[in-house]
Amino acid sequence: MNRSAQIQRLIGLGPGWEGRPGWFEQHPAALQRSLCQAESAETTNAEPAPAVIAPIQAAPAPASTPPQPAPSPAEAATPAPTPVAAPAAVPAMVADTAAPLLEWDALERAVRDCRDCRLCQTRTQTVFGRGNKQARWLLIGEAPGEQEDKQGLPFVGRAGQLLDNMLSATGLDRDQDVYIANVLKCRPPGNRNPSGDEIASCQNYLIQQIRHIQPTLILALGRFAAQTLLQTEKSIGQLRGKLHSYQDIPLIVSYHPAYLLRNQPDKHKAWQDLVFARNTFARLQDRS
Ligand code: URA
Repeated sequence: MNRSAQIQRLIGLGPGWEGRPGWFEQHPAALQRSLCQAESAETTNAEPAPAVIAPIQAAPAPASTPPQPAPSPAEAATPAPTPVAAPAAVPAMVADTAAPLLEWDALERAVRDCRDCRLCQTRTQTVFGRGNKQARWLLIGEAPGEQEDKQGLPFVGRAGQLLDNMLSATGLDRDQDVYIANVLKCRPPGNRNPSGDEIASCQNYLIQQIRHIQPTLILALGRFAAQTLLQTEKSIGQLRGKLHSYQDIPLIVSYHPAYLLRNQPDKHKAWQDLVFARNTFARLQDRS
């Protein structure tokens, strides 16, 4: 059994994870091919194949026009979104580095007690985050779903199980090597898209989490997290496979695990993203 098949069996994802042969090889020819693919994809504006090792260079600065959040893959299948008066734009996730940084415990308490937006009326509880706050990887999802709202932890439902499997296939321990947080700390009813004013109310919590953790690498999971952090309207297809940055922290974009549950053929792309992230992380570590 080749390495790809072994990993596929290990993570129990079935043939949807069948990658092209050679994903795991670090042969110079494979690396060169990936670099060429990434370059040509960028110039043709097609969906890029991620470079296995990309230059450590941030993507251009975010557009100044505030983006409109397109319906996220994670929520595309939500049957009947609850209508809310959503402002047109996603507010800028710009860290106010002069703002006082709360102690971690105080930050957790502030989130737990938060009543800054309407979501406090419908949540069961807030979802602050999980993992190691000294971790070098920070994964950022969208918002708690039903299970997360019940348990008070991010990514504990089916999407979370897939994420755990993907992390362990990448050699990352979900409790030790990563911290996982969401853009929103409360569940939007019916898993509808967060609205701009909800993000504006919540963003200081995520900004403070990022300032505390100071990760080596951020992995933005899904279009919603990516668009919010990068202040762009670009699609996941346009954003993945490139190294971006948020507040000078390298950032890589990948699909949301809930989307992958419904779109098995894209799992191999998510695996490419993780290989890209893993190799980028190794390079960043070497430089520090
Ligand atoms: N989807 C997310 O984006 N975050 C969670 O915590 C769970 C599902």
